[in-house]
Amino acid sequence: MEKDIIRELIKQALAARKNSYAPYSRFRVGAALLDDRGRVFTGVNVENASYPAGLCAERGAVAKAISEGAAGFRAIAIVGGPDHEGDALSSYCPPCGICRQALSEHCGKEMQVILARTPDDYSIYQLCELLPLSFSL
Ligand code: THU
Repeated sequence: MEKDIIRELIKQALAARKNSYAPYSRFRVGAALLDDRGRVFTGVNVENASYPAGLCAERGAVAKAISEGAAGFRAIAIVGGPDHEGDALSSYCPPCGICRQALSEHCGKEMQVILARTPDDYSIYQLCELLPLSFSL
Protein backbone atom coordinates (compact mmCIF):
# COMPACT_ATOMS: atom_id res chain seq x y z
CA MET A 1 0.00 0.00 0.00
CA GLU A 2 1.32 3.43 -0.99
CA LYS A 3 2.78 5.59 1.77
CA ASP A 4 0.59 8.57 0.86
CA ILE A 5 -2.57 6.53 1.35
CA ILE A 6 -1.34 5.20 4.69
CA ARG A 7 -0.50 8.71 5.88
CA GLU A 8 -3.89 10.02 4.75
CA LEU A 9 -5.75 7.25 6.61
CA ILE A 10 -3.79 7.95 9.79
CA LYS A 11 -4.49 11.68 9.48
CA GLN A 12 -8.20 11.00 9.12
CA ALA A 13 -8.18 8.63 12.11
CA LEU A 14 -6.38 11.26 14.21
CA ALA A 15 -8.84 13.97 13.14
CA ALA A 16 -11.84 11.74 13.88
CA ARG A 17 -10.40 10.84 17.29
CA LYS A 18 -11.06 14.42 18.40
CA ASN A 19 -14.79 13.61 18.18
CA SER A 20 -14.50 10.54 20.39
CA TYR A 21 -17.10 10.46 23.16
CA ALA A 22 -15.23 8.88 26.06
CA PRO A 23 -16.21 10.60 29.34
CA TYR A 24 -15.93 7.35 31.32
CA SER A 25 -12.59 5.84 30.26
CA ARG A 26 -11.10 9.11 28.97
CA PHE A 27 -9.43 6.92 26.34
CA ARG A 28 -10.05 8.30 22.87
CA VAL A 29 -9.92 6.12 19.75
CA GLY A 30 -10.23 7.03 16.08
CA ALA A 31 -10.39 4.75 13.04
CA ALA A 32 -10.39 5.30 9.27
CA LEU A 33 -11.53 2.48 6.98
CA LEU A 34 -10.65 2.48 3.25
CA ASP A 35 -12.91 0.75 0.71
CA ASP A 36 -12.13 -0.53 -2.80
CA ARG A 37 -13.36 2.73 -4.37
CA GLY A 38 -11.00 4.88 -2.31
CA ARG A 39 -13.71 6.06 0.03
CA VAL A 40 -12.78 6.56 3.69
CA PHE A 41 -15.17 5.96 6.58
CA THR A 42 -14.15 7.18 9.99
CA GLY A 43 -15.33 6.05 13.41
CA VAL A 44 -14.76 6.93 17.05
CA ASN A 45 -15.53 5.22 20.31
CA VAL A 46 -18.91 6.30 21.66
CA GLU A 47 -19.31 5.40 25.33
CA ASN A 48 -22.45 5.17 27.42
CA ALA A 49 -23.29 5.49 31.12
CA SER A 50 -24.47 1.90 30.78
CA TYR A 51 -20.94 0.74 29.94
CA PRO A 52 -21.72 -2.30 27.73
CA ALA A 53 -23.80 -0.05 25.46
CA GLY A 54 -20.60 1.74 24.37
CA LEU A 55 -19.20 1.23 20.88
CA CYS A 56 -15.59 0.96 19.69
CA ALA A 57 -14.21 3.19 16.95
CA GLU A 58 -13.54 0.34 14.54
CA ARG A 59 -17.06 -1.03 14.69
CA GLY A 60 -18.42 2.50 14.31
CA ALA A 61 -16.43 2.86 11.09
CA VAL A 62 -17.59 -0.55 9.83
CA ALA A 63 -21.24 0.28 10.55
CA LYS A 64 -20.94 3.62 8.77
CA ALA A 65 -19.29 2.00 5.74
CA ILE A 66 -21.70 -0.91 5.44
CA SER A 67 -24.69 1.41 5.76
CA GLU A 68 -23.32 3.46 2.85
CA GLY A 69 -23.00 0.35 0.65
CA ALA A 70 -19.22 0.15 0.86
CA ALA A 71 -17.33 -3.12 0.34
CA GLY A 72 -13.91 -4.55 -0.47
CA PHE A 73 -12.17 -2.96 2.46
CA ARG A 74 -8.45 -2.54 1.88
CA ALA A 75 -7.17 -1.04 5.10
CA ILE A 76 -8.07 0.45 8.45
CA ALA A 77 -5.96 2.90 10.45
CA ILE A 78 -6.46 2.93 14.21
CA VAL A 79 -5.17 5.48 16.72
CA GLY A 80 -5.94 5.69 20.39
CA GLY A 81 -4.72 6.81 23.77
CA PRO A 82 -5.62 8.64 26.96
CA ASP A 83 -7.28 12.00 26.51
CA HIS A 84 -4.52 13.81 28.39
CA GLU A 85 -1.95 12.76 25.79
CA GLY A 86 -3.69 14.83 23.13
CA ASP A 87 -2.15 14.05 19.74
CA ALA A 88 1.14 12.93 21.33
CA LEU A 89 0.15 9.28 21.53
CA SER A 90 2.56 7.14 23.52
CA SER A 91 1.64 3.77 22.07
CA TYR A 92 -0.32 1.89 19.42
CA CYS A 93 -3.94 0.89 20.04
CA PRO A 94 -4.52 -2.66 18.77
CA PRO A 95 -8.17 -3.51 18.11
CA CYS A 96 -10.03 -5.40 20.82
CA GLY A 97 -11.19 -8.97 20.24
CA ILE A 98 -14.75 -8.03 19.36
CA CYS A 99 -13.52 -5.52 16.77
CA ARG A 100 -11.19 -8.12 15.24
CA GLN A 101 -14.17 -10.42 14.84
CA ALA A 102 -16.30 -7.59 13.41
CA LEU A 103 -13.56 -6.71 10.90
CA SER A 104 -13.25 -10.35 9.91
CA GLU A 105 -16.96 -10.43 9.03
CA HIS A 106 -16.57 -7.69 6.42
CA CYS A 107 -12.91 -7.65 5.42
CA GLY A 108 -10.59 -10.12 3.72
CA LYS A 109 -7.86 -11.94 5.61
CA GLU A 110 -5.21 -9.77 3.94
CA MET A 111 -6.76 -6.47 4.88
CA GLN A 112 -4.10 -4.10 6.22
CA VAL A 113 -4.53 -3.03 9.84
CA ILE A 114 -2.46 0.09 10.42
CA LEU A 115 -1.66 0.82 14.06
CA ALA A 116 -0.32 4.33 14.36
CA ARG A 117 0.88 7.04 16.71
CA THR A 118 1.55 9.68 14.05
CA PRO A 119 1.42 9.73 10.22
CA ASP A 120 5.11 8.73 10.29
CA ASP A 121 5.04 6.21 13.12
CA TYR A 122 2.99 3.14 12.33
CA SER A 123 3.08 -0.62 12.09
CA ILE A 124 1.06 -2.68 9.61
CA TYR A 125 -0.46 -6.11 10.18
CA GLN A 126 -2.70 -8.31 8.09
CA LEU A 127 -6.06 -9.04 9.68
CA CYS A 128 -5.29 -12.79 9.68
CA GLU A 129 -2.22 -12.13 11.84
CA LEU A 130 -4.37 -10.41 14.45
CA LEU A 131 -7.17 -12.98 14.29
CA PRO A 132 -5.82 -16.38 13.31
CA LEU A 133 -8.25 -19.29 13.06
CA SER A 134 -11.17 -16.87 12.79
CA PHE A 135 -14.72 -18.03 13.31
CA SER A 136 -17.31 -17.76 10.55
CA LEU A 137 -20.52 -19.53 9.55
N1 THU B 1 -11.86 1.00 22.31
C1 THU B 1 -12.02 1.17 20.96
O1 THU B 1 -12.68 2.11 20.51
N2 THU B 1 -11.43 0.26 20.14
C2 THU B 1 -10.70 -0.80 20.56
O2 THU B 1 -10.37 -1.67 19.76
C3 THU B 1 -10.29 -0.89 21.96
C4 THU B 1 -11.11 -0.09 22.90
C5 THU B 1 -12.51 1.95 23.22
C6 THU B 1 -13.66 1.35 24.00
C7 THU B 1 -13.72 2.29 25.19
O3 THU B 1 -14.52 3.41 24.83
C8 THU B 1 -12.29 2.76 25.37
O4 THU B 1 -11.60 2.45 24.17
C9 THU B 1 -11.58 2.12 26.54
O5 THU B 1 -11.69 0.76 26.50
